[in-house]
This record gives sequence, structure tokens and C-alpha cells, in this order.
Amino acid sequence: MRIAVITETDPHEDRVAATPETVKKLVGLGANVAVQSGAGLASGITDADYQAAGATTEPTAEAALADADVVLKVRRPTPAEAGAMKRGAIVLAIMDPYGNEAALKALADAGVSAFAMELMPRITRAQVMDVLSSQANLAGYRAVIDGAAEYGRALPMMMTAAGTVPAARIFVMGVGVAGLQAIATARRLGAVVTATDVRPATKEQVESLGAKFLAVEDEEFLQAQTAGGYAKEMSKEYQAKQAALVASHIAKQDIVITTALIPGRPAPKLVSEDMIASMKPGSVLVDLAVERGGNVALARPGEIVVTPNGVKIVGHLNVPGRLAATASSLYAKNLFNFLETMIDKGSKALAVKWDDELVQATNLTRDGAVVHPNFQPKPAEPAPAAAPTA
Ligand code: NAI
Repeated sequence: MRIAVITETDPHEDRVAATPETVKKLVGLGANVAVQSGAGLASGITDADYQAAGATTEPTAEAALADADVVLKVRRPTPAEAGAMKRGAIVLAIMDPYGNEAALKALADAGVSAFAMELMPRITRAQVMDVLSSQANLAGYRAVIDGAAEYGRALPMMMTAAGTVPAARIFVMGVGVAGLQAIATARRLGAVVTATDVRPATKEQVESLGAKFLAVEDEEFLQAQTAGGYAKEMSKEYQAKQAALVASHIAKQDIVITTALIPGRPAPKLVSEDMIASMKPGSVLVDLAVERGGNVALARPGEIVVTPNGVKIVGHLNVPGRLAATASSLYAKNLFNFLETMIDKGSKALAVKWDDELVQATNLTRDGAVVHPNFQPKPAEPAPAAAPTA
């Protein structure tokens, strides 16, 4: 069994899909691991580190991929990368499948069995494979660090001989995995923290972290959580009530961190231009949803926008990748934990259980076809009825 790890080609991607720790474990399961030279450098891992863990290093992606049975990646392979893979190879990555049907077809055409790690069910058994959680947690932490770095004042209250510095006010919008870590981090740094979400379950979580919860708690709010634990898209009426509540609050905040997402939908717009205009000069907004359409008006992917009233809107891309070494170490473990379930310990060979719940939920392509039910080609529109003849 040969496992390949190649360098990420996306210019915003510093993470890598295996670490010396996971390489060692894979070698222990009987695999030969081939790592493209330099693949780990941006995460602080040298070729020598991989070699010491039992991998070989290869000069190019093609050399690493040649004859590999399994390919570990952070991002979906490009068509060229997929074309260099063996037909039937198993590829684990964050595949970003929604709206990318052409890219999925390219993976199917290359004959690889692609698995989207972000579709992993959020059940107890799969928690150790949950890349959304491992990476969102780091994004939430980093959002506070990035916000603090752009903010021209200190976060904690300080009583000094030269005078008292007030604590910064931080407002977190969206309290999923990222939002909870943002709250915890902001509290540790001494800020006064408030938070909002549309799912009622978050109220207690916010309060247990020592922050204050703020939301329109009407009938719709009480029904806003799906059985899967995600938010629903809220009605226009609810959004208007939410905006009115948030508007007066935001004007008093120093740093606002937004993390709100709805699965399969564009990110909800939560902070309007009027709200931004009401904020004090020097305040900072960090929009973690910027790659999914953004929660904040005026946010631009990959940029820090400064508004005429002196408010900074931070739209960094790939925020987990801004902590590449930590993000890679957790991501690589998520991949290892999933891959381990596909390896027969006795024969030390690949033995994918195609009827396993986790395999079925994540498998996008197999044997030349897109097999995932969510990404099947749409049935053709029925032909329009023939015009009546005279
Ligand atoms: P997410 O990344 O999909 O969304 C982030 C947050 O935005 C959510 O809390 C959502 O309610 C909120 N949001 C959406 N629309 C909003 C609006 N209009 N205003 C304010 N907030 C809004 O969420 P994430 O982090 O993926 O977590 C989703 C759920 O999955 C949570 O219930 C979480 O506890 C659960 N979960 C379960 C796991 C497990 O059982 N293994 C692991 C991780 C998360």
C-alpha cells in the first residue's frame, strides 16, 4: 500500500495533509509513504522530519503520486493532479463540492475515489475525523488574534500609574465551533464579550463561557435548529428584528467577529453598511464567512478594507491556514483516523467498507462516476407541451 502526500498548489494554502506523527502511524500500519519534497515547509516540517518518520521524499508531485493507492491532500486535487493519479486511487481532502460539479466530474473522469472530509457526519464515532471542527476551532481563535492585531488599543482592563485602560468590547456573531473558541479566546485576553446566534442551544453555551447572550428569542428562534444541529435560513421578518437588535449593540463594540453560516446556502448578511457607519473609528470587524459570501457588508475576500469612518474590515482567506503548523497537525490526524478505518490491520492492505456510514456520507466519486446523492446531475426539464394545433 503506497500513500502519497503532495504539496498544496493553492497560493493561500500553507497546510499539509500529513505530519511526521501521522506518517509514523501509517508506516506502522504497513504503508509506504511518499511525500513530495518541500510539502511540509510552510507548516514547519522539513523533508528530513518526514524521512525520520519513515517516509521517502520525491522530487515532484508526479513522482510521489505514481502508483499511489491513497493520496492525502488539504484541497481538492486539480484536474492535472487527478490525472497523474492511478485509477482507483483513494483521495482524501477538503473537496468543496457544492457548486463545483465540473471539478467533481473531472475527479470521476480520472477514475479516482474521492472523499470529501467536510461531509463527515457529526456523530460521536466520527468526531476524531471532523475537519470542520478541528479547523473552525483554530479559525475562531485566530480571528480574535487578527482582530486584536488590527485594533489600536489593548484588550484587557489595565489599572496603571499613568491611568486606567478600559477593557475592549468584543461581539461574536454566530456561535458554532469557531464562535465558541472566539468567545473563549476573547475572554482569556480580558475583553468584555457578548455573542448572538439563532439557535437556542447556544444561549447556555455562551453563558457558560462567561459571555452575555443577545438574540431575538421569539417563536421562530425556538425552532431555528435543524435535527442535524445546524441553523435554518431565517425569515425576512426575523432578520429585520435581529438587525434592529444588533444595530444599537454594534455601535458600542470595539471588535466584532462574525462566523455565521448556513449549510449549502450563502452566508447570512448580518452587518449592514449603516451598522458599520455607526461604529467608532478604530473599531475592527473580522468576517470569517468572507469566503462564503460574507456576513459583513463591504468585506472583501483576502483584504483589509478601511472605511471612511476609520473602521477596519478584515477578510482574511483560509484563516486556519494562518496557523498552518497547528492546523496541519490536527487535520493530518483527522485524515489518519478516517484512513485507518479503511485499512485491514491483519493483511495490512486497503479494505474500504463501501457500505459504512462514514464512507457513504463522504464518497463523491467511484469507478468513473459521481456517486454521492447530493451531487447527481439534475434530471432534464420535461419538454414543453406541444402547442395546440388548429
Ligand atoms: P456553522 O459553521 O454551520 O455556522 C456557524 C454558526 O452560525 C452556527 O452556530 C449557526 O447557528 C450560526 N448562524 C447561522 N445563521 C445565523 C444568523 N442569521 N445569525 C446568527 N448566527 C447564525 O456551524 P458549526 O460550527 O459547524 O456547528 C454547527 C452545529 O454542529 C452546532 O450545533 C455544533 O454544536 C454541532 N457540532 C456537532 C459536532 C458533533 O456532534 N460531532 C461537532 C461539531 C459541531
